[in-house]
Amino acid sequence: MDVLITNIKQLVNTRTIDGPLRSAALSELPVVNDAYLVCEGGRIAEFGPMSALRQKPADFRTHIDATGRFLLPAWVDSHTHLVFAGSRESEFVDKIRGLSYAEIAARGGGILNSARVLHETSEDELFRQSWTRLQEVTRLGTGTLEIKSGYGLTVEGELKMLRVIRRLREKSGIDIRATFLGAHSFPAEYRDDREGYIRLLIEEMLPRVAAEGLADYIDVFCEEGFFTPEQTIRICSAGKALGLKPRLHANQLAVSGGVEAGIAVGALSVDHLESMDDAATQALAASGTIGTLLPTAAYFLRMPFQPARRLIDAGCAIALASDFNPGSSPSGNMNGVVSMACIGMKLLPEEAINAATVNAAVALELHREVGSIAVGKKAQLILTQPIPSLAYLPYAFGSNLIETVLLNGTPI
Ligand code: NIG
Ligand code: FE
Repeated sequence: MDVLITNIKQLVNTRTIDGPLRSAALSELPVVNDAYLVCEGGRIAEFGPMSALRQKPADFRTHIDATGRFLLPAWVDSHTHLVFAGSRESEFVDKIRGLSYAEIAARGGGILNSARVLHETSEDELFRQSWTRLQEVTRLGTGTLEIKSGYGLTVEGELKMLRVIRRLREKSGIDIRATFLGAHSFPAEYRDDREGYIRLLIEEMLPRVAAEGLADYIDVFCEEGFFTPEQTIRICSAGKALGLKPRLHANQLAVSGGVEAGIAVGALSVDHLESMDDAATQALAASGTIGTLLPTAAYFLRMPFQPARRLIDAGCAIALASDFNPGSSPSGNMNGVVSMACIGMKLLPEEAINAATVNAAVALELHREVGSIAVGKKAQLILTQPIPSLAYLPYAFGSNLIETVLLNGTPI
């Protein structure tokens, strides 16, 4: 047998689910105290209270005594831009000096800055930089991710990014969903011919992406100054026709109509939601679309946090993700995201953990494989340091309280 973990103080989020948790259900976190868990062939083979353990540690290749420690499902980070070239700390300083994100973008910085650097970076070098980031976030407890393209903005640049995402998936062995985000910004050459770029996207990029099987999803940055709701719907419809389900960047900088556009195209999720009015909130609550909140992006851009309590009370299904990217969230640390959700948005620790595990897994259509502790699910797990209670995890926000991460049942 592969791995036995014994004397676990608490096994967290032991359940199977069929859909996202909403309202009061989001604060319910099933647990087993004083527990053991067995991994076999990369999956969870059995678990239960210590009193039910029949096997001996000697029967296992690896035995971990988890006295005083919590075992959780690894984080599911359902919105990242982890593949990018270089960094943008000079714009970070520009913002300190008073420029806004929109002003930096308007003068050719921001996404277009990252696109320029990406073009000068070879696929191998892009892979190397991205692999380093992936190793960093997995050691911080992320066991499943979504990664977007969107810094290519040319046929070859977008394909290069998506091929790097495929290589990350192959080398890591974990579930990584790929999203085509050619509609992240209008390249400078198309500033006065937006229609021309949308044609390039729909007529050339999308068919190549689909033919090479490089993406699971399609995303659009639906925002003032970027893509309108009408353009968003056109691009998503073209993606859907080629088998790519939509997920959107919506209502980040302004009440953009992105949430309604996402619901209209049956998006799996609408992400950001810093700027929500009542109409968008009610529409989201009545839909099957998940609202993914990205607190570290709001924090980094010094915007008000997403109105999480209002969304939960209205009945919206919410998830949490890092938005790891060089411009608005240069951190993929999901422990920080969970803490910030509790501190800045007043989520209960149980709500934040559910939003960053099971609901995020639903947003990636992977809830039968990851996101909770259940027999048969992939053994992507976080073993904490000895801590007094589960709430200590988001409370001690600056500490790394993760002792071991298991991916496919193997401690990394
Ligand atoms: O999710 N909003 C658009 N895209 C990213 C930022 C990308 C960038 O600035 O490089 C986001 O915040
Ligand atoms: Fe994003």
